[in-house]
Amino acid sequence: MGGILVVEDDESLNILIEKKLRKRGFKVDAVRSGEEARELIEQGGYDVVLIDIKLTDMSGLDLLRELSPHTNAKFIVITGYGDVSTAVEAMKAGASDFIQKPFSFDILEVSIDKALKEKRLEEENRALKSFLFDKEHEITFETRSPAFNNILQMVEGAARSDINILLRGETGTGKEVLARYVHRLSERRDKPFIVVDCGAIPEHLFESELFGHEKGAYTGATSRKLGLVELADGGTLFLDEIGEIPLPVQSKLLRFVETRRFRRVGGLKENRVDVRIISATNRDLKDMVRRGEFRSDLLYRINTMEVEIPPLRERKEDIPLLVDAFLKRYRKKIRKETLRKLMDYDWPGNIRELRNAIERASLLSKGEYIDENLCLPAEERREACIENVFSSMPSLKDLELLYTAYLYRKLGSVNKVAKVLGCSRRTVFRKLRELRERDGDLEGSPLSELGIDLN
Ligand SMILES: Nc1ncnc2c1ncn2[C@@H]1O[C@H](COP(=O)(O)OP(=O)(O)OP(=O)(O)O)[C@@H](O)[C@H]1O
Ligand SMILES: [Mg+2]
Repeated sequence: MGGILVVEDDESLNILIEKKLRKRGFKVDAVRSGEEARELIEQGGYDVVLIDIKLTDMSGLDLLRELSPHTNAKFIVITGYGDVSTAVEAMKAGASDFIQKPFSFDILEVSIDKALKEKRLEEENRALKSFLFDKEHEITFETRSPAFNNILQMVEGAARSDINILLRGETGTGKEVLARYVHRLSERRDKPFIVVDCGAIPEHLFESELFGHEKGAYTGATSRKLGLVELADGGTLFLDEIGEIPLPVQSKLLRFVETRRFRRVGGLKENRVDVRIISATNRDLKDMVRRGEFRSDLLYRINTMEVEIPPLRERKEDIPLLVDAFLKRYRKKIRKETLRKLMDYDWPGNIRELRNAIERASLLSKGEYIDENLCLPAEERREACIENVFSSMPSLKDLELLYTAYLYRKLGSVNKVAKVLGCSRRTVFRKLRELRERDGDLEGSPLSELGIDLN
């Protein structure tokens, strides 16, 4: 706690306030002039400044106006009895509260407590914001989506506890990003965050990767190896793609999740670690349980808190915020129309796809603004191109080829194309062949922009 500065020119009141506040456990400095107050406040370090509005050498209100923009201290002003208008002025100037003379010390204490609480909240907010936008990785948790906001509040609330969290969501929605966020908000932030990529570990290696092995545990085990759970001790263990874990391994994992105890492969001794477990999956684990592919008791253990991250198409209002974050590093801008198109697109690869698109466009665009054609995914560009096709006034023949090619790309089989066009398969083949033959001189025509690969 920083402390309280009392600025009161009435000597007896000054001494009384100082004494009373000290008695109630506050750290107090007391001065009688505005000049002394200014000097001390400028040095910083006070949580609360209790200031009389009428000082002998200057107006407390003026001093408040002068100093409050430059200090994090909270001001409580003391006004004369019935001087409401000065009190209002003081609040406008940034005071957090006012009390009127004569006042009881209980009321003063309540007011100080309130100011201290306000200050603490402000500080926490700032600390949080400073890494809400993580410049290095362009991560932002700024959101306009009520659904995502809910999620943030949920995980922020749970971060300090050790409860197991299961993050569900499509690919690229930010499951790992969110897991790291929880870790950073937790008391474990200075300890390791260890990712277990469950989908990438072959079944026969799982146990030894996770729990380690003793020397000679099996052929090739030439020395003792620590498992991932031991590396995570004190920190967070992130079980990514947990739905990929084979059933036999699930039983072993279950025991660990329940007890945080494990044995290295080939070892007799039981070890214990202190880890927080966060799991992630893009699969429907409940359905896997029904089909007998995932243990229900394991699911029950890992999903003490379950968080479903919405796909980007369900939080499109956040696209501008994310784009902003991604563009910063490249010092590029985006036109309103481009942004609108990005918001119309569904982003099946979610935030990852959006980020890749913006990075690609930033790197390839020449001017100050990113080129729309470079950041919209290829599919979208082609659709847009088809819409624009009439404006290039193609011949009927071109149009025919164009439409055939379009159908072929969409349906993927000559049979289906023939059905739609109401012609024979042979005709479709002929058109496609013609298209391929003309491929060379299609540069710049709408056909070439379709980017059709017939091979
Ligand atoms: N809040 C965010 N702010 C900025 N970028 C983000 C955010 N969340 C995710 N991303 C971007 O999306 C990428 C994918 O995120 P992440 O790896 O967390 O997704 P995931 O859900 O784990 O995907 P997968 O299921 O494919 O593993 C990140 O590398 C990052 O570039
Ligand atoms: Mg992931």
